[in-house]
Amino acid sequence: MIRRLPLGPGSQLPGWLEALEAEAFGASWGPLTDQETLWAEEGKAFARWSFVPATGEAELLRIAVAPSARRRGLARGLLQAGEAGLAATGIQWLRLEVRSSNAAARVLYEAEGWTLEGTRLRYYRDGEDAALYVKWVGTESQ
Ligand SMILES: CC(C)(COP(=O)(O)OP(=O)(O)OC[C@H]1O[C@@H](n2cnc3c(N)ncnc32)[C@H](O)[C@@H]1OP(=O)(O)O)[C@@H](O)C(=O)NCCC(=O)NCCS
Repeated sequence: MIRRLPLGPGSQLPGWLEALEAEAFGASWGPLTDQETLWAEEGKAFARWSFVPATGEAELLRIAVAPSARRRGLARGLLQAGEAGLAATGIQWLRLEVRSSNAAARVLYEAEGWTLEGTRLRYYRDGEDAALYVKWVGTESQ
């Protein structure tokens, strides 16, 4: 079951989540800040967001699914749960950055209605470009 984890700022992340974050991205960022929130499928997948209520914007910081649980719709479910939950708090714009070469993630985002907004050249330390995506989840039409 995908759910929002009831973690406050500074509280310890579950061990499985830190391990998955480290496996997928090289290191865990550790406890949440006061402007971060997490959705997860226990033991298998998580999506970490930051949000700024004053501007109505949120950013998908990281999403990862354990290799043995991929291609079963978990990332899609996490995106949909996070988007609905954030929209319910008044968030209107979602943003994310992804490595240009990350085909799996880019297909996922595009299938979920995210729009490519631009490219940030040599954004990553190894020189790779970032693709920037946005998604409107506000109630008024754009
Ligand atoms: C990207 C990632 C999160 C996808 O997770 P997932 O649970 O396997 O994705 P889903 O099963 O929800 O896939 C939904 C759709 O995304 C697309 N997709 C997902 N993985 C794909 C792949 N390897 N190749 C092509 N398309 C893919 C497909 O359209 C898929 O729909 P389908 O299975 O009906 O064809 C996962 O591969 C992962 O954890 N990668 C490592 C971390 C990472 O790169 N995160 C993104 C950057 S922050």
